[in-house]
Amino acid sequence: CGIVGYVGDKQAARFLIEGLTKLEYRGYDSAGIAVYNGESDAIRVEKSVGRLAELEKKIDSNVPVGCMGIGHTRWATHGGPSDLNSHPHTDCTGDFAVVHNGIIENYLALKEELIEAGHVFKSETDTEVLPHLLETYYEGDFEAAVRKVLRRIEGSYSIVFMSKADPDTLICTKQDNPLVIGLGEGENFIASDIPAIIARTRRTYIINDGEVAVVKKDSVWITNRRGEPITKKVFEVNWNAEAAEKGGYEHFMLKEIHEQPKAVRDTLSGRIAKDDSAVILDELKWTAEYVNSFSKVFIIACGTAYHAGLVGKYYIENLARVPVEVDIASEFRYRKPIIDDNTLTIVVSQSGETIDTLAALKEAKRLGSKTMAVTNVVGSSIAREADQVVYTWAGPEIAVASTKAYTTQLIVMFLLGAYMAGLRGTVEDSRMRELLGKLRNIPAQISETLEDVDPIKAFAQQYGYNDDVFFLGRALDYHVALEGSLKLKEISYIHAEAYAAGELKHGTLALITRGIPVVALATQRSVYEKTLSNIKEVKARDAVVIGVAAKGDTELHKYTDHVIFVPETDELLIPLLTVLPLQLLAYYTALTRGCDVDKPRNLAKSVTVE
Ligand code: G6P
Repeated sequence: CGIVGYVGDKQAARFLIEGLTKLEYRGYDSAGIAVYNGESDAIRVEKSVGRLAELEKKIDSNVPVGCMGIGHTRWATHGGPSDLNSHPHTDCTGDFAVVHNGIIENYLALKEELIEAGHVFKSETDTEVLPHLLETYYEGDFEAAVRKVLRRIEGSYSIVFMSKADPDTLICTKQDNPLVIGLGEGENFIASDIPAIIARTRRTYIINDGEVAVVKKDSVWITNRRGEPITKKVFEVNWNAEAAEKGGYEHFMLKEIHEQPKAVRDTLSGRIAKDDSAVILDELKWTAEYVNSFSKVFIIACGTAYHAGLVGKYYIENLARVPVEVDIASEFRYRKPIIDDNTLTIVVSQSGETIDTLAALKEAKRLGSKTMAVTNVVGSSIAREADQVVYTWAGPEIAVASTKAYTTQLIVMFLLGAYMAGLRGTVEDSRMRELLGKLRNIPAQISETLEDVDPIKAFAQQYGYNDDVFFLGRALDYHVALEGSLKLKEISYIHAEAYAAGELKHGTLALITRGIPVVALATQRSVYEKTLSNIKEVKARDAVVIGVAAKGDTELHKYTDHVIFVPETDELLIPLLTVLPLQLLAYYTALTRGCDVDKPRNLAKSVTVE
């Protein structure tokens, strides 16, 4: 989502709409603004489902008047896209309005408590608890009330609070979500992202986690969590508008690669029990009986989502011991699949709009299967068509080559496997705790892995002009190899092939000649020695081998030319880390070759033709 705020001596609505226009890439399910003129009986709130243009149309002949306001463009999470679920949200009295990015993890408990106390909720969002809490705590001191609200909420957020009784003040704060304040003359701006404000000012304060800013037209007062004042340096933005949209990164793909720690953290948020004993998937409410009724699971998808499905098969079979078949959506419906009402069909789709996947879902349904979608877009066609949905919370993905959608899909597949295992009793308690404990560390380990880009840049420059590249691996490494090879093909136009390392000798080895780069993943202990043998086979044909291993591996370097290390974790979870250098390798290779990274030739982000 994108958020904006304005307090100053000009009309707020003009800036709010202008700022939101620049943030539409952050979400386009719905948009809304709240404006107050300091005199009238109520804060005026206008919102509309759909693109920002719909909101503009709605207010065109009667633009809200007032010098203070907040605005929001939404990428739906809790609650589908609708007028009511759009931000800003207000309390019962209408005296407080709030816009919010992120997820309030404990909103259900707070909502129950507030309803018990007599509050009436209008939307299905997690955000709406914020204005109601503010109403509860407000006793004439706006900042004190906001601080009380912040003490109650858990999760990730950037929030702007507005109060009718304080018509010259906005208060904002953040945790794990971006927030900047733009400094003007007799006016100040708030935004989740710099593009919203750079047409107005280049002087900004970048707000850090836990900081609270009280913003008036000619002052900005910033304090830390404990309320102690903070002196901030002004950050002068020297990006152009295009770079600003990409958060300072050269391409959306690189930005999205670096958004993975947060995307994965958000997707995990609230889904692991506090003592790591179980997975919580409130949206499913399955029973042991229900899960035990599945004789088979189908996973169906296209492209990168299909690769996530392959890893999903591994997870569900390994943890929950239910047989899984994975199918390419465009193949599935034409091969007379054997399906009945004891089958669960899971479709995986970032966009939720891929026509092949949607058609396969409809076919599975027609044949009597139970259906479930794993998607990133709330209210998408696939989300609506499936009986049940588990969302990835990756946020909008703009680059055609999918990155953060893949890692968050892996997370959901793992959660599903562990959830089913919990119900079926197929994983020992101690093993479950070990796995979920390690899963919690994954966002930090993703950050750690993404810090080490220099060697990958060097490989891209050194080997980026080859015509062919091979990717090898066994077990989960093979599935990650498939995704690494697809990334390279998509954006660098190099012919890349991924092979199950043991299959190489049955044909493909004929293609391995002197100097051909081979990326070999070797993280799976049960097949480690065998993978080493296959690496020796390609080395014997003078290939250049770049190995990918977990830290602590002391063998692989003996048989390869280079090794990329990722942090140690369970070998079931390591695909979440090993895919990262492969994404970066594809990215830097495409850069080396001068390719259009975000918009590769012949490809589209969302394919709605068969
Ligand atoms: C297109 C994109 C791929 C994507 C595939 C499936 O081909 O270019 O990156 O993996 O569609 O998309 P979906 O939105 O269903 O995950």
